[in-house]
Amino acid sequence: MTALQEIINKIENILIASDALEVNLNGIDEEQLINKIKEYFTDKEEKILNKEILIKIVNEIRESNEKKVVVLHTNYKEAKDIDAKFEIKNIYPEKTSSSTEDFLKYFNNRFDKIKRLIERRVNFIKDISSLKNYTNGREVAIVGLVYDKITTKKGHILVTIDDPTGVAKVLFIKSDDPNLSKLYDSATKIVKDEVIAIKGKISNSLIIANEIVYPEIPIKSITPSNEDISIVFTSDIHIGSKLFLKDEFEKFIEWLKSDDKSARKVKYIILGGDVVDGIGIYPEQQKELEVKDIFKQYEILKNYLEELPDYMHIFVAPGNHDAVTLAEPQPPIPNDLFKEIKNSNIHLLSNPAYVTLNGLKVLVYHGASLDPIIRDIPGCSYERPTTGMIELLKRRHLSPIYGGNEILPTREDKLVIEDIPDIVHMGHVHKNDYAIYHGVLFINSGTWQSRTIYQMKLGHLPTPGRVPIYNMHTSQLYTMKFSDLSYD
Ligand SMILES: [Fe+2]
Repeated sequence: MTALQEIINKIENILIASDALEVNLNGIDEEQLINKIKEYFTDKEEKILNKEILIKIVNEIRESNEKKVVVLHTNYKEAKDIDAKFEIKNIYPEKTSSSTEDFLKYFNNRFDKIKRLIERRVNFIKDISSLKNYTNGREVAIVGLVYDKITTKKGHILVTIDDPTGVAKVLFIKSDDPNLSKLYDSATKIVKDEVIAIKGKISNSLIIANEIVYPEIPIKSITPSNEDISIVFTSDIHIGSKLFLKDEFEKFIEWLKSDDKSARKVKYIILGGDVVDGIGIYPEQQKELEVKDIFKQYEILKNYLEELPDYMHIFVAPGNHDAVTLAEPQPPIPNDLFKEIKNSNIHLLSNPAYVTLNGLKVLVYHGASLDPIIRDIPGCSYERPTTGMIELLKRRHLSPIYGGNEILPTREDKLVIEDIPDIVHMGHVHKNDYAIYHGVLFINSGTWQSRTIYQMKLGHLPTPGRVPIYNMHTSQLYTMKFSDLSYD
């Protein structure tokens, strides 16, 4: 089967003319091609893809993907001479009673929101209750919330999914056939409580799957800014812990205050949670604390932030060690803990939150859900936390596995990723890592704490004192090292 035939098989009701098979598809993204073909035929009665139409579509894709020439006006100004232009979208939790009714509303809302996103990628979705009207062998597409996933005695994967109308059982066959084997591998990545589309054939009371479709993120590109300014990403400072790397962190603060050319470009600093070690976070934490008073821990942070130049804007989000409720979405750290701060450019974020900095949209999430994601999705690891971050974005949900980390079951599921960011910043796993997926930059910023006993037991290798810095003008990301400690 040619590549084009395989692609066309994924689109319903479109026929392929034989001359179209001659068209060169080298370098064309399959998903982009499918979307463009669907778009082209939306309002056409005759749905035959011939050579002429395909060449037109392919040329359009090539043109749109060619790097746009952007005239960059380097103004040689320093960050202090450039106005800060930012917008914060905090995600506040609503009050909830945690009743059964609230849980139902929460999951129905999650289903509705993600189904809407999936509908852009899959046509002719059927309600699960309507499947009984179809005969064996009929091809169908359904969307559901994953209720259960088991491996049968024969090694097949059986997934139970439901929508508000009913429940369906979907079978992924274990086979040596390359296509089935690829599909089976994808099924191993299905996690509980996520919303997915399944395409497959009805076979008695089952659906034999032939495709899984995630809501996904579209392909995009970051537009460089005319302003030559940088964003510093850091997290997991853990002030108060005996393992907080005070000297190294102070070197970082000194660098931010220095005349170093790169430091003078820093306009924004994002602190992505666990800014302090907190108290009572885990059993016997007291023994590992240098500062046992939560107010003092924040006071130390406040003193550091007060030293920074006042043209820098600092965004502070909470994590699972901070002085706010653990259940997500977490509200911002209370103002009281930063009261009388001299620097007025401190902005308190919720977890998660969106910050748009001179037009660049950053999704800031501490990353507690990375633990269950790394545990349950093959291919994800603590070594490369961006693997898990990408899986979250593909699922358009910051914490798909319910109960994997603490979630507040609000009537609206606020952890659905509705806005597509340019940059996703997480922390939590104390490991510096970067990736680009569909044009979105994924950053896990590392830590300022040396290796804990807990991390030693689990074999985690943190990367303390490494700071990712993104220049908005050159679109380049680089890492500053403030510690010689290396576990990797
Ligand atoms: Fe942390």
